Amino acid sequence: MERPLFIPVILDDAGEQMKDPKFSATIERCDGLIIVTPEYNHSFPGLLKHALDMNLKEYIHKAVGICGVSAGAFGGARVIETLLPVMRELGLVTIFEDVNFARIGTLFDERGKLLDENFVRRVDMFLNELIWMSRVLRHGRDNITPV
Ligand SMILES: Cc1cc2nc3c(=O)[nH]c(=O)nc-3n(C[C@H](O)[C@H](O)[C@H](O)COP(=O)(O)O)c2cc1C
Repeated sequence: MERPLFIPVILDDAGEQMKDPKFSATIERCDGLIIVTPEYNHSFPGLLKHALDMNLKEYIHKAVGICGVSAGAFGGARVIETLLPVMRELGLVTIFEDVNFARIGTLFDERGKLLDENFVRRVDMFLNELIWMSRVLRHGRDNITPV
């Protein structure tokens, strides 16, 4: 049997044409976002990008914090770095705290209990910063007219 020279990949559409009304309404309502993402081959999963691309104006001047998850020792540091220019292009404002969940296979027991208490303090710092930035930007959106 003859083998095909290439396998076509058909995507129906992309970007705002793929808008999911429930997802868009949620983003519209929120003041800040948390993205928790695994690292795939030192980058972000294609499906995450596909989902993010569905909205645009809903993100503008809103805060975002990113948590990286990885099997290896770097805790998704590389996926966080590769997401930064995407965040900027979407109009999101990144905070300077991240959470890096390294060696994810060993971080929880089989019942889902966190095995490293240090993460409680790290997540706390991350959330405090995200809440502060979300409030600042909400104040700006509500009270300061763009020039
Ligand atoms: C396609 C693929 C690529 C991956 N690439 C990396 C990688 O570059 N670095 C790393 O530390 N872990 C990597 N991993 C491990 C994942 O980051 C880790 O297992 C993650 O928790 C998987 O989440 P998921 O089960 O939601 O896909 C990869 C996993 C998959 C499936």
